[in-house]
Amino acid sequence: TDMLDWQAPAFHFYPGENWMNDPNGPVFYKGWYHLFYQYSPEAAVWGPIVWGHAVSRDMVHWRHLPIAMERDEWYDVNGVWTGSTTILPNNKLVVLYTGSTNESVQVQNLAYPANPSDPLLVNWVKDPANPVLVPPSWIDIKDFRDPTTAWLTPEGKWRMVIGSKVNRTGIALLYDTDDFKSYELQDGWLHDVAGTGMWECVDFYPVSKDDFGLDTGTFGPGVKHVLKASMDDDRCDYYALGDYDLREGKWVPDDRAIDVGIGLRYDYGIYYASKTFYDQHKKRRILWSWIKETDSEKTDIKKGWASLMALPRTVALDPKTGSNLLQWPIEELDKIRSNLKEFNNVKLEPGSLEPLSVGPTSQLDVMIEIEVDKKVVSGLKVGSKVPYNCAHHGGAGVRDALGPFGLLVLANKNLTEYTPTYFYIAKDKHGDLSTFFCIDQSKSSIAKDVDKSIYGSTVPILEDEKLSMRILVDHSIVEGYAQGGRTCITSRVYPTEAINDDAQIFLFNNATNVTVIASLKVWQMGLKTKNESGWVWLGP
Ligand code: FRU
Repeated sequence: TDMLDWQAPAFHFYPGENWMNDPNGPVFYKGWYHLFYQYSPEAAVWGPIVWGHAVSRDMVHWRHLPIAMERDEWYDVNGVWTGSTTILPNNKLVVLYTGSTNESVQVQNLAYPANPSDPLLVNWVKDPANPVLVPPSWIDIKDFRDPTTAWLTPEGKWRMVIGSKVNRTGIALLYDTDDFKSYELQDGWLHDVAGTGMWECVDFYPVSKDDFGLDTGTFGPGVKHVLKASMDDDRCDYYALGDYDLREGKWVPDDRAIDVGIGLRYDYGIYYASKTFYDQHKKRRILWSWIKETDSEKTDIKKGWASLMALPRTVALDPKTGSNLLQWPIEELDKIRSNLKEFNNVKLEPGSLEPLSVGPTSQLDVMIEIEVDKKVVSGLKVGSKVPYNCAHHGGAGVRDALGPFGLLVLANKNLTEYTPTYFYIAKDKHGDLSTFFCIDQSKSSIAKDVDKSIYGSTVPILEDEKLSMRILVDHSIVEGYAQGGRTCITSRVYPTEAINDDAQIFLFNNATNVTVIASLKVWQMGLKTKNESGWVWLGP
């Protein structure tokens, strides 16, 4: 495993060994952020799942705790699957999670802290009334999972959502309860989208232009609702903005053309089974998500661990566009930055490649602003391929009038390995511009058995905005945020030579017509959470 040790993340959360998938039940309780997660304690592959558990003061420094819930009842012996925490009045916590029963039926179960005065919530009790909810007769017994956090309705009932499907239609079911033990299915359902298949890990929460975060169950003027589902079919997390009619129990998307599953994604890379929670401590909404491996299972077994969590992100409505979310790494991460290096107004002529001298680059946070020569852009009749598609136009090496340009990360000296993160501007025959943000993994590794797709999508650019991106590099993970988090991409890459001190960064401009000017700030990022003794306490 030594040979693969460099891949271990320094500031992304992971269990250190064996397999992890979805984030579960995130909550802030008595001064601690709790993160539970789908954990397979016996191997680096998915299997018999229990709830792993870790706590943190800041979601950056973690302390690993014993398994919170084992597979020890007939109703969860095949897996303690995904669930959510709800904070009841008087700061009382309840957890609803899916159990896969001895007969592999998906049922919902209730659990709570054994000792509410323990801020670390080490021990959990499962309710003797479990399972508290079984699939309705018209739903397949294997299509009923992942309950959301509940909220209080004006009638004084607790209401939560569960994802399912009917034939090929993905659906979100609404349930009301008084006591979390008996449930009433609400007529119809919250929402459905034909052709999208099973909806896993549904999330449903309010956002508004005026607030950075709203508690689940906030309604009223100016409040929009986000509905998100993890699509089992294509393994991506899709969201849409819309209005929730709390009397009818229906959610309606703002734009049916970009409904859940056919429009926006949280992230255009490898990012799945996410879940938000309202952080009442800092009054913000935080998004957690699972980053799966994209190498072979064989390699995962050899290295002894698989998967990690994406950086915790604040998620809010974009006040400028009103039509997308903004995701941004939590501000606590700024505290592990050091050795700032600044580069101002670096002029990149068409076809240039500029090495940046910043020291070791396998743990980095980079903020870049790019100005594009506007005269060239407006003077051009048609620019580049339209419609452009990051995945299908050959990546960062294919040159067009107005792109691509950006930053190479995890690049070695000889450029046998590198991962470009970049913009590409397309101008169609009507003169309309669209900008794309992409990460190209095709040259990320000389290894053969790893995924090398090219990720990306459009990013809204408003009048007079410079292009901007933030790129976080953590050994084998690259997270990119364009225009303050309007479009995000997470990449899992496996360089073999561009590692540790041999990794470098370069600015590049592969456009044929346009010169761009880049200004950037580059920080080293701290923390390494793994050592010989296993779990490490790095807490404040
Ligand atoms: C999503 C998921 C959930 C399920 C859990 C099982 O990745 O399939 O739907 O509850 O993982 O580990």
